[in-house]
Amino acid sequence: MEIDLTKIGMYEDQQYEVIITTIDKNGNSNAAPFGLRVLNDNEVFLRIFEGGNTIKNIKDKEEFIVNITADPLMFTLATTNTIPDDYLSRISNKTKSNGELAYLTDADAYFICEVKSLKTSLREDDIKSSDVNFIKSEVVELNIKNKCVKPLNRAIHALIEALVNYSRINIVDEDAQKYFLERFRESERIIKRVGNDEEKESIQILKENLISQGFNILENE
Ligand SMILES: Cc1cc2nc3c(=O)[nH]c(=O)nc-3n(C[C@H](O)[C@H](O)[C@H](O)COP(=O)(O)O)c2cc1C
Repeated sequence: MEIDLTKIGMYEDQQYEVIITTIDKNGNSNAAPFGLRVLNDNEVFLRIFEGGNTIKNIKDKEEFIVNITADPLMFTLATTNTIPDDYLSRISNKTKSNGELAYLTDADAYFICEVKSLKTSLREDDIKSSDVNFIKSEVVELNIKNKCVKPLNRAIHALIEALVNYSRINIVDEDAQKYFLERFRESERIIKRVGNDEEKESIQILKENLISQGFNILENE
């Protein structure tokens, strides 16, 4: 199958929340969620902080699997610890001889990635400084298991929350209004960072409506 991520609804310059599965040197599987940016039809980009199992395994093996799922339990297990082997299937990467890989058996789609470049740099902020890895990878095999596959994107969820709050803002007290406006600012921040053009236009429409009703939402600017 020709590799083209648009076949699974993943588009250039967009970020999606995925579960990455890797295998360590001893054959143990690991799963964790990450934000994955699409560079083009068959290249993706990850930004992973140093210190976790995924980045260690990616550095060791230079390959990993990206699982597309909207299963809340899988995201939760992957975030709190890892996904037990019962939920995983093992395969080998035909284009490389590094041994086994694992994918989420019930994923709607999964793809095998090989690392093309990995750069590490120090990220300084107010609280602590830490190394962050920038990883560019090529998709070498794409498997679609559910034709209706739809990768998760944080922006649409942030927009829906903002819309729900907007629809209630005139029937709640002042404290709740303040809370909704704080939430609106957070939704706007997420959408500006990871949203598509329609989501950005939508939050702008909502913002203009709030402003025209006299709400002060400019503090974030
Ligand atoms: C939805 C979601 C997206 C995440 N995206 C990233 C990311 O892009 N980069 C990163 O370093 N950590 C990200 N994290 C945090 C990692 O998943 C977390 O540090 C995890 O514990 C790493 O597990 P590991 O040690 O098994 O690799 C994300 C977490 C969630 C829940």
